[in-house]
Amino acid sequence: MLKLSNLSKIYSRHGKSVSAIDGISLQIDKGDFVAIIGPSGSGKSSLLLMMGGMLSPSSGEICLEDQSIFDLSSRQRAALRQEKIGFLFQTFNLVPYLSALQNVLLPMLFGGLDKGSRRNRALTLLDEMGLADRVDHKPSELSIGQQQRVAFARMLANDPPLILADEPTGSLDPEMSHQMIAFLKELNEKGKTIVLVTHDLNVARQANRVIEISKGGAIVTIQEGATLEIALS
Ligand SMILES: Nc1ncnc2c1ncn2[C@@H]1O[C@H](COP(=O)(O)OP(=O)(O)OP(=O)(O)O)[C@@H](O)[C@H]1O
Ligand SMILES: [Mg+2]
Repeated sequence: MLKLSNLSKIYSRHGKSVSAIDGISLQIDKGDFVAIIGPSGSGKSSLLLMMGGMLSPSSGEICLEDQSIFDLSSRQRAALRQEKIGFLFQTFNLVPYLSALQNVLLPMLFGGLDKGSRRNRALTLLDEMGLADRVDHKPSELSIGQQQRVAFARMLANDPPLILADEPTGSLDPEMSHQMIAFLKELNEKGKTIVLVTHDLNVARQANRVIEISKGGAIVTIQEGATLEIALS
């Protein structure tokens, strides 16, 4: 589904460069459920943004179903993203002046559904997130956990085959967090490919595969879920 070849990202700021990702190669198969763990600043969000075609790599290649995504024009890439990828940002990226409902409707605007079906789908997704009575609230009128759930509903709007989620349970209480992971597992069982960045080892253990990025950017170890406990204890 997704293949990263020798991927690097160097950020340049005021003449200083920071190497966020240094030569990562990685393959994620269709139907896989992969967790990415690693300390703060190890490049997890940068990696996920590149996988989603939202951040261009300094070198290397990202192929989504054999299509090198940074060989496409930005318009083609946006269209591919719209169709294939659901992205959950660490900082939610909700549009502040739109209601919860409008935020979830946004990614569907250019899809194939008519207006009534789009609205029904958005309301159903918000209901599934326990937000049926909050659909007209703006992000600033919602708790952080509620905003995270709106972002979750928006990520699912176009029913994407690939889900990239950056700390999807970071702002949720334990019960809601558990519910969200159960929900992701269910989506995975229905065939969706999931890449999940998390700090929470209990969350990571739910994945089929755990990838650890070590600080300093470079080393990736791929472990089966079963050996994770030993590897990290
Ligand atoms: N836009 C940017 N400009 C310059 N440096 C950046 C930028 N974004 C990230 N970095 C740097 O790249 C490195 C990796 O950042 P990244 O956000 O990918 O880490 P992370 O593993 O997601 O961390 P966290 O767990 O705290 O979310 C960090 O050293 C960070 O300071
Ligand atoms: Mg991050």
